[in-house]
Amino acid sequence: MMTCDTLIRNARVLDGSGAEADILDIALRDGHIDQIGPSLDCRASKLVDASGLVLAPGFIDVHTHDDTAVIRTPAMLPKLSQGVTTVIVGNCGISASPVRLRGEPPDPMNLLGDADAFCYPTFAAYLDAVRVARPAVNVAALIGHTALRNNHMDSLDRTASGAEIEAMRDQLQEALDGGALGLSSGLAYLSANAASTGEMLALAQPLAAAHAVYATHMRCETEEILDAMHEAFEIGRMSRVPVVVSHLKCAGIANWGRSGEVLHALEHAQQTQPAGCDCYPYAAGSSTLDLRQVDERVQITITWSIPHPEVAGQSLAQIASAWNVSQLDAAKRLRPAGAIYHSISEEDMRRILRHPATMIGSDGLPNDPRPHPRLWGTFPRVLGRYCREEKLFSLPVAVHKMTGMPAQRFGLAGRGLIRKGFGADLVLFDPENIADTATFTCPVSAAKGIVAVWVNGVLSYTADGATGNRAGQFLPRGTTAWIQ
Ligand code: ZN
Ligand code: CU
Repeated sequence: MMTCDTLIRNARVLDGSGAEADILDIALRDGHIDQIGPSLDCRASKLVDASGLVLAPGFIDVHTHDDTAVIRTPAMLPKLSQGVTTVIVGNCGISASPVRLRGEPPDPMNLLGDADAFCYPTFAAYLDAVRVARPAVNVAALIGHTALRNNHMDSLDRTASGAEIEAMRDQLQEALDGGALGLSSGLAYLSANAASTGEMLALAQPLAAAHAVYATHMRCETEEILDAMHEAFEIGRMSRVPVVVSHLKCAGIANWGRSGEVLHALEHAQQTQPAGCDCYPYAAGSSTLDLRQVDERVQITITWSIPHPEVAGQSLAQIASAWNVSQLDAAKRLRPAGAIYHSISEEDMRRILRHPATMIGSDGLPNDPRPHPRLWGTFPRVLGRYCREEKLFSLPVAVHKMTGMPAQRFGLAGRGLIRKGFGADLVLFDPENIADTATFTCPVSAAKGIVAVWVNGVLSYTADGATGNRAGQFLPRGTTAWIQ
């Protein structure tokens, strides 16, 4: 008889491809999926009866800002407790490496921590720190355009010179050689907004040969969103690189109801080039406090403020009225600060979430003392609220959006599917019970319905909490090609 480390019996297996479930046994050995079959005959040191439960590939959070969290809080509970087994860091143009600061980190790099959090001058130094920290989840990494700009430019309010672009490109190439997944940008932020399309095209040049991707927090998510999408797809097309539009949304009241147009633009691009997007399942965004997004009609909650820490948790309207000033003036006094903007329409968000091009990404902010609930709730919310209750999509499709699809698009070889020989990243959950519990008033709260999570074959989380075993690895870019 064969032997294995763990045998999971009678699970409703959703393999991550989008296919319907099958009742199967899965045997894990040496961190990998060793056997899959209806009734496996194998001697296991650990036996799990999974009757009535769904077994899926561990979820891949394609949009995170966990760069420093995986090192400083390696238990990674906000993610592990949702069944997430891999985080993609370095989104929105901000990555923890390669970074050499001169002074304070510019907005929004400060989302990753204070100046002392940036101690990885090279991508290799960052990977060493990840290995030493041994996080509970796997880590894959994008390199941030804003981080590169800040390394080589004395001021960020202009486009980069040829020499500066060359220096940025050398650093990007070095990181790609070290296994980075690609380049991210955050062109809406003032620290990158002055970068021309030409700067992006010149910088994106090494991506194609490396089979890497371009992920972008676009130049605009409000009125000019179609121009911003056009720019993103042009960069992808001219550079021959797949484009991931980050947290696709129609932000701002004037922009509500435009998700049809926006998705049409995405579909149009898909006819000639690889393109997709990620989305979080909430009608509110969160980032640093941006004066351009202050709108008296939108509810804005201040999550932190350097000059006024005492107002954290209050709405901007409350603060402004207590100070007897306009919301804009209050916002000016509060910065640097963090904010949650209730500026998305639920209808638009649902339509984007259910689109076949859409992957799930939390965009959670782990350093925020009062984080947007997406940090702890994204994946169970998609499976509970939007799949089971609202039936936006079937369970196999929901799981595909968080497993097989992201693995394939980001080139995470040997992950994201339940296949013989693949990494044993698995989540066992109760499909009738899975639900997010994190809310805007009580955002730090673990999901319900997650029964067990294995990372590289190691049982890392159960309904009783983290097991304390941390088995995450750095996942370098593989060679998988993007299939539309
Ligand atoms: Zn972003
Ligand atoms: Cu982000």
